[in-house]
Amino acid sequence: MTQEIEIKVDNGVQIIRILRADKKNALTGPMYDAMSAALDSAEKSEAVAAHVFIGSGGVFSAGNDINDFMRRSRDGSQDVAPSQMFIQRLPKVTRPMIAAVDGLAVGIGVTLLLHCDLVYATPAASFRTPFVDLGLIQEAGSSVLGPARLGYARAFELFALGEAWGAARAAEAGLVNAVVPADELETKALAAARRLAAKPRAALLAARRMLKGDPALISKAIADEVSVYKDLMRSPEAKEAFTAFLEKRPPDFAKARRGG
Ligand code: COA
Repeated sequence: MTQEIEIKVDNGVQIIRILRADKKNALTGPMYDAMSAALDSAEKSEAVAAHVFIGSGGVFSAGNDINDFMRRSRDGSQDVAPSQMFIQRLPKVTRPMIAAVDGLAVGIGVTLLLHCDLVYATPAASFRTPFVDLGLIQEAGSSVLGPARLGYARAFELFALGEAWGAARAAEAGLVNAVVPADELETKALAAARRLAAKPRAALLAARRMLKGDPALISKAIADEVSVYKDLMRSPEAKEAFTAFLEKRPPDFAKARRGG
């Protein structure tokens, strides 16, 4: 079991803490597996009424580990990746999910937030989804959740332009509920989770279920995204984007398209 995800249950709240600050909390297969197992076991437990995702070291998450991307792209792996298994679980989660975001949130560090019911962020939070820059498309059902939460224009800006949003922009766009000072972030998120945990459980879960709508629509969007994503993942442009990141140089997509 990885040490890079810490799971604690306290007062009806499951805290899922990402502890890989030296790699900006980039998520590897074992980390996804640990988070999936935590979400799964909570579904069968009366002890958990809400989940809180939180980063560490002044970072939420730099998204999927690009070394993992690179390996899968090179191997042409057809297995369902741990990241996909985690993503497929998200629409099936029945308990409220809360995120506490300090510093960078990139890729799945942002798309996870679209599944969360409450998101708190610090003034230093920054949100970026460079999927297209990596030769890929948005994931985790964001094709549907993004326009629904943010409106089409903002969703396109976030996902296609791929530029970073600061905390104020994210709050104005509806991605974030409130911006709070860094030293109050965890307290704020936990207090909200505990307030939810103290409420009548059946009513809370029913209210959330009705507000969320049909989870099958999100699962379908995830499946549709995966079929596009799989092909793009093996494209010369995606390989060039991953290689350029690992070699710490700008990508040359025109050269990659010419087969260079
Ligand atoms: N996958 C793997 N390693 C990552 C990573 C990722 N997604 N994000 C950061 N890291 C690693 C870096 O390679 C570096 O490792 P090293 O110390 O062994 O060289 C370490 O984390 C620190 O990152 P660094 O780039 O030096 O920090 P920074 O503050 O200059 O930049 C980011 C931080 C997040 C802006 C930058 O690392 C980045 O762009 N990461 C990729 C984000 C991304 O594209 N994620 C996938 C989205 S789909």
